[in-house]
This record gives sequence, C-alpha cells and structure tokens, in this order.
Amino acid sequence: MCGIVGYTGSQEAAPILLEGLKKLEYRGYDSAGIAVINDSRISVSKVTGRIANLCEKTSDGKNCPGTAGIGHTRWATHGAPTDTNAHPHMSNDGKFAVVHNGIIENYIALREELTEKGYRFESQTDTEVIVHLIEMYYSGNLKNAVIKASSRLRGSYALGVVCTDEPEKLYAAREASPLILGVGIGENYFASDVTALVPYTRNVIYLDDGEFAEITPDSITVFDPAGRPVNKKISRITWDVQAAEKGGYEHFMLKEIIEQPGAIKATIAPRIKDGKIVLDETGLTAEYLKSINKIVITACGSAYYAGCAGKYAIEKLCRIPVQVELASELRYSDPIIDEHTLVIVLSQSGETADTIAAMKECKKRGAKTLAIVNVVGSTIANIADHTIYTWAGPEIAVATTKGYTTQVSVLYLFALYAAEKMNRIDEELYKRLLESLNTLPKKIQEALDMNPQIPNLAKKYHNASSLFFIGRNTDYAVALEGALKMKEISYIHAESYAAGELKHGTIALIEEHQPVIALCCNESIMEKTMSNIIEVKARGAEVLAVTFKDNQKIVSLADDMIYVPKTETIFAAAAEIVPLQLLAYYVAKENGCDIDKPKNLAKSVTVE
Ligand code: G6P
Repeated sequence: MCGIVGYTGSQEAAPILLEGLKKLEYRGYDSAGIAVINDSRISVSKVTGRIANLCEKTSDGKNCPGTAGIGHTRWATHGAPTDTNAHPHMSNDGKFAVVHNGIIENYIALREELTEKGYRFESQTDTEVIVHLIEMYYSGNLKNAVIKASSRLRGSYALGVVCTDEPEKLYAAREASPLILGVGIGENYFASDVTALVPYTRNVIYLDDGEFAEITPDSITVFDPAGRPVNKKISRITWDVQAAEKGGYEHFMLKEIIEQPGAIKATIAPRIKDGKIVLDETGLTAEYLKSINKIVITACGSAYYAGCAGKYAIEKLCRIPVQVELASELRYSDPIIDEHTLVIVLSQSGETADTIAAMKECKKRGAKTLAIVNVVGSTIANIADHTIYTWAGPEIAVATTKGYTTQVSVLYLFALYAAEKMNRIDEELYKRLLESLNTLPKKIQEALDMNPQIPNLAKKYHNASSLFFIGRNTDYAVALEGALKMKEISYIHAESYAAGELKHGTIALIEEHQPVIALCCNESIMEKTMSNIIEVKARGAEVLAVTFKDNQKIVSLADDMIYVPKTETIFAAAAEIVPLQLLAYYVAKENGCDIDKPKNLAKSVTVE
C-alpha cells in the first residue's frame, strides 16, 4: 500500500525512481509522482493512474534532470486520487519536497496550527502537514528540522525528504511503516521494500521505528529519534532479480501459483532432519509448549484463512484449543490472553498494520508471539519473540497464492513439532505424518497437473453473478480462501459457507443455474457434504465439485469436476486450494481483469 523510493548518486535520478516505482506497483496505488533536484530547484511531476502515465509525462524521466530525488505511489486515504493530492508535496518556499507512506493521525490539529501560522495547503492529504512542519522548523539544518517535525507526528510514516540547500542529500525516516536503505558504491537508495532495490544493490539496512537516515552518494548515517548516531548492520538480500520478474508468464499470479511446489519444498525441507522436525530457530522448547493452555492465531485476509486451515491440524495433533482471530477484531476486543497463551501471527509481508497492532496487544498481556512471515527483516519478524520464515521468495501479485500455501505448510510443521514436544503423539503416527509433509510439494505439483480442464471451466462460469463455495471442517477452511481468491481478482461476488449452515439461510438464495463449488476432500465428513450437494441440486444449482479422482459418488452427482490428490486430511488444504487459485485466475482472465493489481486492493495493507 503506497510505496516510496529515493536515489542519490551520479546517475540521472528520474529513470531510477521510475523503475523503482514500477517495482512497487504491486503494493497497490492510484497516483504517482517524483521530485528531482536540479540547479537548486525541485522539479515535481505527478499523475493520476499508472506509472506508465508518469513515464509518458516525463519522457521516461528525461524531462526531470538531476542526480538526487524521491518518488511515490499513492493509495488514496485522505483526499481523492488526483494530481494535486499525489505526492511529492512541496513546502510553500519551494525548498523542500516530501513523500510519505502511512497516516498522520493528528493531521487535522497540525493543519489548523500551520494554517494559522500562514502556511498554505494545496492538497487534502494528511502528508502535507509534514512538509510545512519541516519548513517551519528549518533554520539552516535539515537534520534538526526533520527531528523536530517527526516529534510532532502521531501515527505511522515512512518519509523521504529532499531540500534545495543540500541538493545531494536525502532524509528518510520511519515509524511503523516499512522502509529499507540500499547501500551502493557512490550511490545510495531508499525504498519501501527490497523489490525496488534488488536491481541495483543487494546490500541493505533495515531501519527500526523512530530511526531516520541522512543519505548522500557516499554515506548513510542512521540516527535515533534524538539525533544520536546508531550503528546499523548491513544485511545481504538473497532474492535474485529474476525471482521478482515475470519470467515469461503472462501474470505474476500464474507464475506464483506454479512456483508453489518449489516454495513449499524450500520452506519444509530444511526443517526436517534425520526423521525429525527441527524448529530450533523458534526457541520454542518442550517446557514452554507444555506450559501453554491455548493458542491464538491472528492475521488478516488470506493469512487469516491460512490460520483457519492450520487450526484443524494443531487441535487434532496437540489437543490444545486454537482460536483464530481477525487481527482487526482482536486488537480492539480486550482479549483473554495471558502468559499461558501462545499467539501465532501470520503475515506474508510482515507489515500489515492491524496484525502488528494485534500482536503488540497480545504481547502487552504477557503472551509469547510466534511470527510466520515471508519478508526477512520485516516489522512483525522483528517484534516477535519467535519467528519462522516461509521461504516463498518475493510474492508480487496482490492476491496471495504461494504466501498462503507456505503459511499453511509451516502451521502443519508446527502442529507436528509441538505435538511431539508436548508428548501428544505416538511414534508411528508422527512418522506417517512426517512422511506426508515430505510429499506435500509433490502433491501440489499433482494438483497443478491433474486439472487441464480449468481454463474451460472458467469459460463456463465467468459470467456468473455470484458463486457459492461450500465445505465442512478442513474443506470449509479451503472454501473461505477459494471464495476470497475468486472475488478479489475476478470481481465476481463469491461467498463461502459451512455446508451444514446452508439450511439456516443460504439455501434461500439457490435457484436454477446458481453455481455452487462444493469441496469434498475430507473423507470423515464427505457423506454429509454429499447430502448438501443433493439439496442444492434439487433446487437447480450447477455443482462444480472438488474432490479425488476416484470419488465416483461425487463424480456422478456433480456437473463439473476439479481434482485434488489424496493427502492426510489434516494437511489437505495446501493442495486443495491450488486448483481453486487456478480457477480464480482463469475466470479473472476471461473477464479481462487486471489480475496482478486488482482494483482498490493493496498487497501490503500498512494502514488501519
Ligand atoms: C492484503 C493482501 C492479501 C493478504 C493480506 C494480509 O489484503 O492482498 O493477499 O493476505 O493483505 O497480508 P499479510 O502480508 O499480512 O499476509
């Protein structure tokens, strides 16, 4: 959600800023802009819509000469997506330009104060107060002005600032919004995430909350909020550039769906050694695990649904209650959580604002937190007591696929690991389930290979005005994610229902030709779901069933089939979701949707 970039060096800044912004497009945005310093003047270009418009407006940056500058993609919160509201914002004296991610919560009071003092506002944004504060506090020393201005801000920000008096210098500051510094040779950078930096450098510095940096072509100095220098470590990014490229696929989403067997292998394989799950990295000891009496899983969006799928495995194997809570609800729910609760936090980006807040709330109440995160060095990974990384590599499509399946796989690993540590599982079952986890990448590959009919099914179903996904138990957890995938990229209304709830309302909506996607991969409860299929068929529904190839009973009931390989039921979600991801993808393609960047959505929701 929004993205910022900054460059200072000896090359022309604008083309680098534009390239960086293109790499951040996936985060979600509706306008964009750059500011470049040249000849003691700041030239600003802003557009509504795509970066392509900005490239056109600036002739790919050629119209904005200069070797230092900042750029921004904006996802409108305060004020409509217009050229005026787009960043960078300028000070009244023309000396400063600012880009900002996040939300300044006290902007109304600051705006009133600054207006009274005679500062003129051009936009409706919360951001504009920052640039006027900097102008107000500036008396020849930009560092001091940034410190003073930041101390007045409440809320979240990742900031980039340039000033005509120090034309080669950038300032970057962070509070609860992602910001990473890129270390080059004779040139330096900042960006909201590493995808914008990897084409130029693999050496990065992760800023912590409250810190800010003074960046010149030859140096980066990081300061604490009081302005004292802080020693920071340079980390090396292991992702290669190709990992964040489409690599011949029409969309990132399809590439990421197909990458899932590899991503899951990379996530699981290093954690299984000599017939045992090794999660030493978590520091979760047998003694600690035996001391807890409840697990709370919290997350947003698909990560929340990954938690719903993981709950079944943890409860079944560890015999401990698992509560799955939306982070946006948990944070305000005065939750019953204490030092005997383990809180598992799921997040691909590690930057989701509600998830961070929920996690802090749980920590405050004495719980230990285990983060399952994809982005190394992200806020959630830093705050957590224990972290397990999903090694999915960069995920660029807004709708998560490999992010979700790797989260689910880590929850399976954790379930089996914890069950063993808590002495809740016998050796034979442990061995059988471990073997099953080992074969997950293969099963996912099978799920991809056994459904060549999906593009044709998409042609049949893409005109539907509404799609219902039904299932029970583990199938219900997958139905939740299947419906979300469908609605977020195809814009078709899609809802999931626990099949047993149909009679309590939803069946009223079933009429002739209403498509119902019925998930039937949980053998223990399949007969029950079959009855639900019969009920909706009796009311004219078209049923697309998701089940095993040899499941003749379902095949004879359904109108269309999607196949899933057989796995242990408690580990079923990882393979079962894969054909539903493909179905959503092909339906969205039929409907001509912008698959990687669905309207109104952002990859990383860094504001509440
Ligand atoms: C957004 C994304 C989803 C993601 C959710 C949580 O809504 O579009 O794909 O599941 O945020 O994101 P996180 O990075 O915390 O997993």
